[in-house]
Amino acid sequence: MSSTSKAFPTRISLFRMSSLLIISAALIACGLTSANPVDLHRRAVTQLSTTELASFAPFTQFARAAYCGTDILQDWTCGEACEANADFAVSLVGGDDNDIQNYFVGYSPSLEAIIVAHEGTDPTQLESDLTDIDVPLATLDSTLFPGISSDVEVHTGFQDEHALTASIILTEVQSLMSSVGTNNIVAVGHSLGGALAEIDTVFFRLNIPSANISAMTYGTPRVGNPAWAALVDASDVNFKRIDNMQDLIPIVPGRTLGYEHPAGEIHILSAGDVVSCPGEDDATDSECQIDSVPTVFQGNIIDHLGPYEGIYIGTVFCT
Ligand SMILES: *[C@@H]1O[C@H](CO)[C@@H](O)[C@H](O)[C@H]1NC(C)=O
Repeated sequence: MSSTSKAFPTRISLFRMSSLLIISAALIACGLTSANPVDLHRRAVTQLSTTELASFAPFTQFARAAYCGTDILQDWTCGEACEANADFAVSLVGGDDNDIQNYFVGYSPSLEAIIVAHEGTDPTQLESDLTDIDVPLATLDSTLFPGISSDVEVHTGFQDEHALTASIILTEVQSLMSSVGTNNIVAVGHSLGGALAEIDTVFFRLNIPSANISAMTYGTPRVGNPAWAALVDASDVNFKRIDNMQDLIPIVPGRTLGYEHPAGEIHILSAGDVVSCPGEDDATDSECQIDSVPTVFQGNIIDHLGPYEGIYIGTVFCT
């Protein structure tokens, strides 16, 4: 953490201070905020609008659907999560709910994008795995990740899980790109599924250089080392990792174990109060996850399940 960030209030220019006061006076006059003095902690983050938040819902529902059984995913009859994306044409479903996380691929006409969704895992199990002292990092397979630098390291469990379905998913995505005629790919997932979607961003970038790649991830743990985070940041992908209130999964494995998140954090403070955190994974954004949850003891695993703007994600929410 840089010490300059904490020195902010004394370094603020008079001009900035006076404009903040004017803006906050205007907000108070409009009844948009309480009559507290200027909240200097708000400087680093941007409040998301209702419209932006609503635009996340289809992706949140896809991440939720990934927890449903393969049979109902095949028929796209997974209840609310499927109905929320009623026009989705699922084209590949796989996984066994056990060694291979469930996944699906298909095309959303309303989003004009190919969706690749990965199931997550039991949060308490994930927590115990990732708070273990032994959470090994390793280089990526250069066959799956052509041209990858040996500086880049990713959690071995996550990359092994990703490798199980990487080729079949890549083939399906390439086939859909040509049959539908779209360049847009959105990887989604929650928890372990979010980690797999994060790995997808670089995987797709290296294997389909022309694609327009996005990822919407929820409650994602750290996936790799700082070189990995820098690679995601530099890969020209629209990567978002949405984390909820006091969820502790996004702060594990710890930075002291050599892990770092890419940029793209969006932090839910409470329903409708959601901020975009432009900073790196270094606790300088005072309303963002690692400042809200400095250690796992301040965290709450229940928040891992949501609500992500009204939507809960997990095995029991597949109805
Ligand atoms: C890239 O994909 C995203 C998500 O589908 C979409 O919102 C965006 O408009 C696309 N960009 C271009 C240039 O097509």
